[in-house]
Amino acid sequence: MLHALECHNLSKAFLDVPVVRQVELTARAGDILALLGPSGCGKTTTLRLIAGFEWPDSGTITINGREVASDATRVAAEQRRVGMVFQEYALFPHLNVADNIGFGLKLPGRDQRARIQIMLALAGLEGLARRMPYELSGGQQQRVALARALAPQPEILLLDEPFSNLDAALRMQVRGEVRGILKQSGITCVFVTHDQEEALSLADSVAVMFDGRIAQIAPPEQLYHQPASRAVAAFVGEANFLPGQADGATAHTSLGVLPLARPAYGRVEVLIRPEDLLLEPDDANANAAVIWREFYGHDQRIGVRLPDGLSLVARLETHQFFTEGQPVTARLRVPALSFPYLS
Ligand SMILES: Nc1ncnc2c1ncn2[C@@H]1O[C@H](COP(=O)(O)OP(=O)(O)OP(=O)(O)O)[C@@H](O)[C@H]1O
Ligand SMILES: [Mg+2]
Repeated sequence: MLHALECHNLSKAFLDVPVVRQVELTARAGDILALLGPSGCGKTTTLRLIAGFEWPDSGTITINGREVASDATRVAAEQRRVGMVFQEYALFPHLNVADNIGFGLKLPGRDQRARIQIMLALAGLEGLARRMPYELSGGQQQRVALARALAPQPEILLLDEPFSNLDAALRMQVRGEVRGILKQSGITCVFVTHDQEEALSLADSVAVMFDGRIAQIAPPEQLYHQPASRAVAAFVGEANFLPGQADGATAHTSLGVLPLARPAYGRVEVLIRPEDLLLEPDDANANAAVIWREFYGHDQRIGVRLPDGLSLVARLETHQFFTEGQPVTARLRVPALSFPYLS
C-alpha cells in the first residue's frame, strides 16, 4: 500500500542541539497517525518539518510519492499541499464561519460557495455559517479550524495538540467528532499530542517519541500490549514493574512464578498492567494487603503491598469492595511481558 507520508532518517538541530534525531515515520493513505511524546521531545518540530516551515539538516520527506525535502529537493511549504491546524485554532476574529472556511480558497465565486457549503456540512456547521468566532463554543471553533484546513483539499493534514484548548468533557466528545470528519474526508492526518489516551483512542497508528527519536510506531492495541521497551510501557498507560528472574517461559517474582508472553532469561522486570491484576479477598492464603483505594465509578484503583514491601496498583470493576489493610490474593490473569533489567 502506498504511504501518504514517509519521513526517512530525518534530523534537525537548533544551535547544535539535536531536537529531531533520525526519525522514521510513515502513514498509510487515509490513516490517522498520532505523534505522542512528553513536552519538548520534538513533536512540533517534526510537524513543522513535514509542513515545510523548517528544513531538515538531513533525511528525506516524501508525500504521496513526491519527495518534498531532501539534500537535493526543497519544496516550499505552500507547494506541499499540506494543511495545518494549530493549537489555538487561529480563526480570523473579524470573519464569520463561512469566510473563515473560504479564506484560503481562490475558486471562482460559485465554486467557492459550493466548496464552503460542502465543508460546513462535513464539519456539522450548517446553520452557523454567519456566526462570528466569538459566538461559537470551543468545540465549534475546533470544527471551523478543521473545515478551513480541509477546504483546499490538502493531501495531508497536520494537527498540533488540537484538543488542548477544550475542557475534559468536551474533549472526549470533540475527539469523536473530529475522527468522524477526518475519516469521512479520507485525508491522511498526523496529529501531535502528549495525551496518551487521546493518541490511543483517536489514531490508527501511534508513534511514540522520546528525546527526538521514535521509540515505537504501532497500532494502539499493539503499542499498549506489546510495548517495545520499558520506557514505552511506562509512558503509554499505567504500568507496574516487578523485578524477577526469568528462566524462559516463566519469571520468579514476589508475586509467585508468572508465565511470560515471550521467553526471557536472567534478571528482568515484569510488566503488569493494573487491569491485568486480579484481587480476591483471602484470609488464609493472602499474598498481599490492600494499602489504599481510589473509587472512580466506572472502575477503582487499589494499591496492594506484597510481603517483601513492593507495592502494585490494580484496576478493578467496582462491585467488589475492599478496605485498607484487607488481606487479598493478587493474581495475574494473562501471561506477562518482561524487559531486561537495567541497573
Ligand atoms: N526555533 C527554535 N530554536 C531553538 N530551539 C527550538 C526551536 N524550536 C524548538 N526548539 C527546542 O526544541 C525542542 C523541541 O521542541 P518542540 O516544540 O518540537 O517540542 P514538543 O515536543 O512540541 O513540546 P510540547 O509538547 O511542549 O509542545 C525544545 O527543547 C525546544 O526548546
Ligand atoms: Mg509542541
